Amino acid sequence: MDLQLHGTTALVTGAGSGIGRAVALALAAEGVRVALLDRDEDALSETAAACPGSSVHVADVTDEAQVDAALGSLDRLDAVVCCAGISGPVGAGIEDITLAQWNAVFAVNVTGPFLVLRRVLPALRAAGTASVVLLSSDSAFVASPGMAPYCSSKGAVAQFARALSVDLARDGIRVNTVAPSVVDTPMSRGDLGDAALDAPDFPVQTADEVAAHVAYLVSPRSRAVNGTTLLSDFGYTARSGFPA
Ligand SMILES: NC(=O)c1ccc[n+]([C@@H]2O[C@H](COP(=O)([O-])OP(=O)(O)OC[C@H]3O[C@@H](n4cnc5c(N)ncnc54)[C@H](O)[C@@H]3O)[C@@H](O)[C@H]2O)c1
Repeated sequence: MDLQLHGTTALVTGAGSGIGRAVALALAAEGVRVALLDRDEDALSETAAACPGSSVHVADVTDEAQVDAALGSLDRLDAVVCCAGISGPVGAGIEDITLAQWNAVFAVNVTGPFLVLRRVLPALRAAGTASVVLLSSDSAFVASPGMAPYCSSKGAVAQFARALSVDLARDGIRVNTVAPSVVDTPMSRGDLGDAALDAPDFPVQTADEVAAHVAYLVSPRSRAVNGTTLLSDFGYTARSGFPA
């Protein structure tokens, strides 16, 4: 299927690693000119080398001045995909989590997309019709023990996207979220360990598979899809607690 993305432009945050990098490569392969943002300049350069015609924007998404300076040159965007994120403390109850740790997770995962989208709204409006995809998580709907800040932040991301989809509909801008369960990336390997991810029955998907979901939501093929969450969790949340 032709996703009808050729010749369009997209900003991808968190493009230096994992899902963000896979999204950048997938969109570039569809003929999208990608603007790549990350705080890790070296990692970003590696992604850029694999994306012809891309531009590089180094910024910490929690820093308003850096975001504004890094994205000031973008005057037209057909899509924005916000992948920059951190997991924060893993395996800790809230009595063991500092306020600084809690705030750091919300700063990157929730405030980051707010700052980025606020800065590029004029560029999205300039495109006439546009699509925004935010990376939420199945952790917005179900919780693993010891990840309260991350789960809470991903719930906030899903609702932020829903609220934006209502506010921006009149501008022709769609806003959706993708909510995968565990994806094989440096983040999940760091949190869960190689043994868990490499176990034969562990339900894990690749960053490329998530990138394909994102590419569909970015594309005009999904033009009727707005304000929703694509939950890709191998059907886990569909199962009733009924013991059968
Ligand atoms: N890996 C998973 O299992 C999984 C599952 C569901 C959702 N997600 C979400 O997908 C997104 C991408 O995760 P990933 O697994 O690819 O992680 P990753 O650690 O591989 O990549 C995250 C990227 O974001 C960048 N980044 C982090 N903080 C930043 C900041 N303040 N400013 C700018 N860049 C910053 C990092 O430098 C890195 O390049 C995250 O939002 C994550 O919560 C991941």
